[in-house]
Amino acid sequence: MLTDVLPRPPAITRAEYHQRRDTLMAQLLTNAAVILPGGSLVTRSNDSEYTFRQSSDFYYLTGISEPDALLVLLPGREAGQSVVFCQDRDPTMEAWTGRRLGAQGVITAHGIDQAFENAEREAMMPELLAGRELLYLPLDHDGALDIAEEALSQAKAGQRRGLPALKGWMDVNPLIHAMRQIKSEAEIALLRHATAISAHAHVRAMCTARPGLSEYQLQAELEHEFVWQGGSGPAYSTIVGGGANACVLHYIENSAPLADGELVLIDAGAEFELYAGDITRTFPVSGRFNDAQRALYQVVLHAQERAVAAIQPGVTLADIHKGVVADLTAGLIELGLLEGELQTCIDEQHYRRFYLHSTSHWLGLDVHDVGTYRLNADTPRPLEPGMVLTVEPGLYIPDETDIPVAYRGIGIRIEDNVVVTNQGHEVLTDQVPKRVADIEALMASD
Ligand code: GLY
Ligand code: MN
Ligand code: MN
Repeated sequence: MLTDVLPRPPAITRAEYHQRRDTLMAQLLTNAAVILPGGSLVTRSNDSEYTFRQSSDFYYLTGISEPDALLVLLPGREAGQSVVFCQDRDPTMEAWTGRRLGAQGVITAHGIDQAFENAEREAMMPELLAGRELLYLPLDHDGALDIAEEALSQAKAGQRRGLPALKGWMDVNPLIHAMRQIKSEAEIALLRHATAISAHAHVRAMCTARPGLSEYQLQAELEHEFVWQGGSGPAYSTIVGGGANACVLHYIENSAPLADGELVLIDAGAEFELYAGDITRTFPVSGRFNDAQRALYQVVLHAQERAVAAIQPGVTLADIHKGVVADLTAGLIELGLLEGELQTCIDEQHYRRFYLHSTSHWLGLDVHDVGTYRLNADTPRPLEPGMVLTVEPGLYIPDETDIPVAYRGIGIRIEDNVVVTNQGHEVLTDQVPKRVADIEALMASD
């Protein structure tokens, strides 16, 4: 099955990366520097590594996708405020593992003010950090304290010349993560593309599904489409759960056969230019819902559609989750899966037997993207234009004897990706059918 290749959106410009570094520097206390390491290769087995994926924060500020790079930001420095250390050029290694940017490439391709190879780092850092009183580091980084200690000893070179001493360090993450939480137009275009690829893949899997195939064969359809469309692959481990496997929230074995009469839940998204799609659809393996499946599906769909419709600036994720809980609980009572008063079932959290995750998370360079969910302990954060989130209610009915047989072992989740706009919202993933009639019509058409 060949599908049309979707037109690629433009890459983030060098000017935008420059602007991001300036915005970060403008927030630093005076006389400070930022030190931000990029990612490194990770061993997969013996001497083979996983495909390199740049750390999201480093990529956000540089656009550089090589391992073992380090960004230093030095506000006010005349010789250049942004400095990158990068892998040493090495013709032998490059013959094995691919071309490297080198210092000149970092400057010309990425608009960094100054760049050096890593071999020069030890000699250069004391000079760069001389007189800086405060370091901003990613404190959750494994090597953060090593970097801080190294900087402390390097700062002594400046002190000997009478320059101010290094006084301490702070976490740079909250500043970068607050910036990443509000997406630019160019980022939204990349997310639109990552989600469009993901949507194509889900349609492809829906059209392919039939009894007798196995879960991994739908995984293969999805991941083929991700790469065919120019994505780097899945943004997270693809979940294909047939029947009761759909009730395991992070089921990634994808090894079971798909049975006639069962539903299959697919939670899968492509990564494009490091931006993630994150779509879930649940549909009948054979193309037709039975009555119990349809009834339960309608409860989730109703909650999901109302949650998406409520998205606009000022609303909070807590509000959205609360609405979903109320809608799911009402549906569970109607179907006889819960008993009692609606408000009591909500207050006493009876729904948690069937729905135990939250409704939304931020989406961006990370599938569970960075950014705060609360302004403080008591106040959820209101949505703002440029935020991107998922809406993913579900119901997971255990295979237990007090449950009517028809509902046992059914798992349903419906997940869309949504941008908050000035006017309200834009759904990025509505190319994949989610209404019962639309799913059945698509599956009947192939
Ligand atoms: N695929 C992970 C999630 O939906 O959050
Ligand atoms: Mn998901
Ligand atoms: Mn999600």
